[in-house]
Amino acid sequence: MTINFKRSDFPDNFEFGAATSAYQIEGSDFGGCGRSQWDDFAATPGNVIRGENGARACDHYHQWANDLDLIKACGLDSYRFSTSWARVMPEGRGQVNQQGLDYYEQLVDGLLERNIKPYATLYHWELPSALLDLGGWRNPDIADWFADFTEVVMQRIGDRVEAAATFNEPWCIAWLSHFMGIHAPGVRDIRAATRAMHHVLVAHGKSIQTMRGLGMDNLGVVMNFEYAQAADDTPESERAAQLYDGIYNRWFLGGVFKQAYPADILAEVEQYLPFNYQDDFPTIAAPVDWLGVNYYTRKLLTDDGSGLFPYYKEVTGPLPKTAMEWEVYPQGLHHFLTWANKEYTNGLPIYITENGMASYDDVKDGEVADDMRIDYLNQHFAAAKQAIADGSPIKGYFIWSLLDNYEWSLGYDKRFGMIHVDFDTLKRTPKNSYLALQKALA
Ligand code: FCB
Repeated sequence: MTINFKRSDFPDNFEFGAATSAYQIEGSDFGGCGRSQWDDFAATPGNVIRGENGARACDHYHQWANDLDLIKACGLDSYRFSTSWARVMPEGRGQVNQQGLDYYEQLVDGLLERNIKPYATLYHWELPSALLDLGGWRNPDIADWFADFTEVVMQRIGDRVEAAATFNEPWCIAWLSHFMGIHAPGVRDIRAATRAMHHVLVAHGKSIQTMRGLGMDNLGVVMNFEYAQAADDTPESERAAQLYDGIYNRWFLGGVFKQAYPADILAEVEQYLPFNYQDDFPTIAAPVDWLGVNYYTRKLLTDDGSGLFPYYKEVTGPLPKTAMEWEVYPQGLHHFLTWANKEYTNGLPIYITENGMASYDDVKDGEVADDMRIDYLNQHFAAAKQAIADGSPIKGYFIWSLLDNYEWSLGYDKRFGMIHVDFDTLKRTPKNSYLALQKALA
């Protein structure tokens, strides 16, 4: 199977890239990295499959040069990586681990030497454990702690990154982790979730201001989106889909681009927000230069019968599914790329900062035949191309992920990489999707 798009199908200077995150690939045991909430969450029985953690992960901390060579050899233009708060500031505040900063500097310089553009994301979930002791995302002080972390990192690499994002996926940081309890710190509490939904945006705004203060530009934030549909045509299911959409897709965009939270969600959760939360909107809405869209799937929703907000549960859909049990629904990507531009970002550049799929990939005779991934990419690149034709300023596309890696509470067997990683030997084997992409980009 082949990749059926070529560079010339996309505008000049369109960025073809791959994405990763620190905890998922680096190895948190190395280089003076501090403990994060993911180390503790994984050490607690029942949270992560087989109790797996990111202590070694892909050992990218040591193998980064080889991995950057693989990015280069694929013909990609850019690389999206993240910086670990716990690696740079093991206690979250105060003491800086110079080794951690040296590591990110060497990574950025290594990218530039290879003519690959560095797209940095400051936070992809490894909150230092010491900050969780203080309440983590429930504590309003986290916005200032995060601004300090931003300053420490960007004083070192801010002059050389092509672009920087504050957060990866505020919905996951707040809702998945503090309402659903599926990600660290595994809290299930509506007040904690609502406060996290607000504090993460205040931290975003302060971080943007900090980077502007350092003279940086090309700053953004990466949000995730899921297309929400009613499982049937009852009013209960319609409401379920609407509320899912509000929490997931409209809350964070609303804060950053409209200085307002969506009325349907606010009606339910305003009681849990900090007193005078409205005063934070000017900070939250600090101007950004681009929006990052992460997109994987759609969800079908119906009433959960609990009588408690948000009144919904997910229903299994009929479409082909990936190893995550996520339905393949490229129409949703087209939807968000056009809708976000029209309703929120108004002509600002949009990047697809993550898209891809997990499959159960094996190496057989040196080959990994991941045809479904090639097909998935073809369908989603076509959706992006259509969004561009329909007038959305889509500037780049980062495939999740470069390498098979630690898929959070699902451990190591959900393989998202274009490059297979043997987690015993750490051997890298480019999959057929990598080879097909290499051909298409040549
Ligand atoms: C996104 C995360 C990324 C990875 C993919 C599959 O939500 O940003 O770390 O887990 O999903």
